[in-house]
Amino acid sequence: MKAEDARFPEGFLWGAATSAYQIEGSPLADGAGASIWHRFSHTPGRVFENQTGDVACDHYHRFAEDIEWMRRVGLSAYRMSVSWSRILPSGYGRVNAAGLDFYARIIDLLLANGITPMVTLYHWDLPAALDDRGGWTNPVVADWFANYAHVMFGALGDRVPLWATINEPWVIVDGGYLHGALAPGHRSLFEPPLAAHNILRAHGAAVRAFRSGPWSAAGAKIGIVLNFEPKDPATDRPEDVAAAKRADAQFNRHYIDALFRGRYPDDMAEIYGEGWPEFPAEDFALIQEPMDFMGINYYSRGLTVADDDAWPTRAIKVINPDAEYTALGWEVYPEGLKRVLLWAKERCGDLPLYVTENGAAFEEPSTVAGGLLADPRRMAYLREHILAVRAAIAEGVDVRGYFAWSLLDNMEWSHGYATRFGLLHVDYANQKRTPKGSALYYRKIARTNGAALAEATPEVEALPALPS
Ligand code: BGC
Repeated sequence: MKAEDARFPEGFLWGAATSAYQIEGSPLADGAGASIWHRFSHTPGRVFENQTGDVACDHYHRFAEDIEWMRRVGLSAYRMSVSWSRILPSGYGRVNAAGLDFYARIIDLLLANGITPMVTLYHWDLPAALDDRGGWTNPVVADWFANYAHVMFGALGDRVPLWATINEPWVIVDGGYLHGALAPGHRSLFEPPLAAHNILRAHGAAVRAFRSGPWSAAGAKIGIVLNFEPKDPATDRPEDVAAAKRADAQFNRHYIDALFRGRYPDDMAEIYGEGWPEFPAEDFALIQEPMDFMGINYYSRGLTVADDDAWPTRAIKVINPDAEYTALGWEVYPEGLKRVLLWAKERCGDLPLYVTENGAAFEEPSTVAGGLLADPRRMAYLREHILAVRAAIAEGVDVRGYFAWSLLDNMEWSHGYATRFGLLHVDYANQKRTPKGSALYYRKIARTNGAALAEATPEVEALPALPS
C-alpha cells in the first residue's frame, strides 16, 4: 500500500474519547448530586469486586496532566462527557456553578493546547434524583434533558464546536432496562421500548434547544452517537437468518430508523410482544429533528444463531472459531467498521460521520515497570480498524474524524478496572499514567494524517518516544 492511499482528508480529526463517570472520580465533590452509576456501583454485587467510580482515574484533580498527555500523544481532538448531576444536582432546577466551572476549565485548557473538544451531554450517568421520578421511562425526561442541554450550551456553546446529545441509546436501554447489567439495573419487557422512545425524544428536544440559540449560526454542530454491530447469521439456515434480522432490528435499526425514517422497525413488535406499546405519531417529528452529524461507535460484530431461550430476541451470539477475540470476548472484525460506515451513509444520506469510539481491551498488567507498556495487539487492532475507515472514505463516506476508545484505562462499567482499553496505562495504586505502544503508534498515525498506516504495524521499539 502506498502512503498516499493511507492518507486521510485534510482536517481529519485524530482524537481519543473518555466519559465522565469512567475517569473523573470524586462523584459527589463540590455540590454534585449522585448519579445512577454512583448508586449502582455502591450496591453490592452490581460491579466486578464491588468497585466504584469514587476515585477512578482521579481526572477530577488531574485533568491538566491528562490534557498534557493528549498534547504529547498529538491528539487534535478529544471527546469527553459531562456529568449531568455535577451541573444540576437534582437533575433540574438549581445550577451548581462549581460543576460548570470544572468543565469550563477543561475546555479552556483543551483549546489552549489546540485540541478540538467534542462534548457528549449524556454518557449513562443520569442524576439519581431523576431516576427516582422514573428516569428514562418518564416522558418528562425529554424536557429535563433539553433544559440541562440548554444550560450547557449557554455556558460553553461559544467554545465547544461539536456536541453529542446521547451516547449509545442501545446500551442505555439494553443494559439499564432490559437485562439490568448496567445502571439503573432493571430487568423488564415493558420499560425498554418506553426508555428508548424517551431517549430519542430527549435527543430531539436538545437539538431544538441548540437551534433556539446562537450556537448553530456561529458554526457549532450537534449530533447523536449510536453504536452499531453487524448481525450476521452464523449459518444459512432460515431460522438463523431470521434470528440475525431480529438481533439487527433490536441493536441497530431500532434507533437509526426512528431518527432517519420516522418509524420503528416492524420486528420490534414481534420481539417485545405485549411489551411493545403504540407511540404517538407526532413524537417522530421531534425525534427526526435534523442534526448536523452522526457519531458511530464500533467494537465488534455479532455472529448470530436462533435460540428460543434467548429473551426477548430469540437470537444469540456464537463464537467464530477462526477469529481473534478481545479480553471481553468480542470478535476482532475490522471489516465491520467499513460495513457499518457504508450502511450508515445509505441510511442517513450525506450526513457527516465521526467514528466516536473504537478500541479494544486485552489482558494487561496492573503495574508497569519501565517507561512503556508494549501492547502489540491493540496496535494491530487500531491499524486494521483505521484502515477500514480509510476504505469507507475511499468509497465515498464522509468521515470527519476518528476517536480511539480510550485515552486512559478506566472504569469499564460493571467490569470495573481490570478491563483495560487505554492508550495510556493507569496504575490505580498511585494514578501514574504510562504510555502504551499504541499511544506512540497512534501519535505517528495522527502526525502523518494516516500515511504511517501504509507500513505494517511497527515494533514498539521502532517508534519514536513521546516528546516531553
Ligand atoms: C461505551 C464506553 C465503554 C466502551 C467499551 C462503549 O459502549 O460508550 O463507555 O467503555 O464501549 O465497552
